[in-house]
Amino acid sequence: MLLYPHLNVNEKGHLTIGGLDTVALAAEFGTPAYIMDETVIRANCRTYLTAAKAAFGAEALPLYASKALCFAGIYRIVAEEGLGVDCVSGGELYTAAKAGFPAARIYFHGNNKTDADLRQAMDMGVGTIVVDNTDELEALESIAEQLCKTQRILLRITPGIDPHTHRAIQTGNVDSKFGNAIVTGGAMAITKKALACKRLQLCGFHCHIGSQIFDIDPFRDAADIMLRFIADVRRETGFLAEELNLGGGLGVPYTDEDPRMDYASAVTDIAAVAKAAAERAGVPMPRIILEPGRSLVAAAGITLYTVGSVKEIPGFRNYISVDGGMPDNPRYALYQSRYTALIANRASEPADYRATIAGRCCESGDLIGEDMPIQRAVRGDILAVLTTGAYNFAMASNYNRLPRPPIVLVRDGAARVAVRRESFADLLRNDII
Ligand code: LLP
Repeated sequence: MLLYPHLNVNEKGHLTIGGLDTVALAAEFGTPAYIMDETVIRANCRTYLTAAKAAFGAEALPLYASKALCFAGIYRIVAEEGLGVDCVSGGELYTAAKAGFPAARIYFHGNNKTDADLRQAMDMGVGTIVVDNTDELEALESIAEQLCKTQRILLRITPGIDPHTHRAIQTGNVDSKFGNAIVTGGAMAITKKALACKRLQLCGFHCHIGSQIFDIDPFRDAADIMLRFIADVRRETGFLAEELNLGGGLGVPYTDEDPRMDYASAVTDIAAVAKAAAERAGVPMPRIILEPGRSLVAAAGITLYTVGSVKEIPGFRNYISVDGGMPDNPRYALYQSRYTALIANRASEPADYRATIAGRCCESGDLIGEDMPIQRAVRGDILAVLTTGAYNFAMASNYNRLPRPPIVLVRDGAARVAVRRESFADLLRNDII
């Protein structure tokens, strides 16, 4: 098994995904291409939904954090599987609406929602807006007033937790552009202000402590701090939060060295720690919401590239250059994220070579990984990078005027294009002069 059970090697020695030969997929759809196993995404949705229902009751609603992988088809898949979604921009809201995602099951996040975003969300009938700050609270109250509507809201709180992950993806610390810190009094102040808003119906609180977390302890700490805050709010204002959204963040393995998580037990454990925290704080257990992104989609995806050159620099290192790079996967350049890569058409050969996988951009930092164990390669081979379902397509750019790769969904032994490859004409679409 290569990291995940849906990845295998066939009798030709080729990497397969969902039973399909990746070398054949590369020939059919071209490279670079994101290939995603839809069955894996659906199975992950079911794992979360079943575990959340068992832990929190029939009305449990896990949310898919759609920033991890956003295209119209994913909203259809998630809607069919019965989850809600977290959207963070007008563009995500628009995509969800066009895909027919039920607006009532959308939570709208973001630390700087514009008036246009807020109006769009209210016009669409977005179920819940997670208000980040006082300016936004005031803007939303006045938009709701103009529209003569009431809006359900949560308030984003920063519990001040370091989840021991990469600094660039820590979002729950006090020194954060997100939310309102409890220790500074900001959280209590915005709560009082929200309670005074006539058009806004405060239902509870939200926090998100970080991403790629393998440990339940930071969630225990977050639940503890948030439930003590809920108890303090009740004491000071009489308001009892009915909902606590603990965000996303559960990790996925990118290499064999990474831990593996059982998401069903993680949900059960988080439910248990939240229940204990509610008892300690002396408040009734609120409805707990979780909003995983990465752990729903990362494993499902791989990226296929064509090798263009293999360069050996004696005394230094070996480079394998591929026909994509930081525009389709900026995560190594941004976070030095580690990946597993293999030569898809030599997948049964030993990975006894070491190479730095370089992209095709005019920039030395355009790497997918450094000194990675891999099979020996030659120009024309197909190179696969695993676990690219989350934060790859979503973070892709057209740097160096490279068209974005397609997304090909694999299911029941068949492959279909969900997002077509950008053309050169697409690149010029908005160029006016
Ligand atoms: N909820 C909120 C409010 C979030 O900000 C995030 C992710 C999630 C849920 C989902 O977290 P997940 O389950 O995916 O860890 N681009 C980075 C990750 C940034 C995560 C931002 N927020 C990366 O490529 O690692």
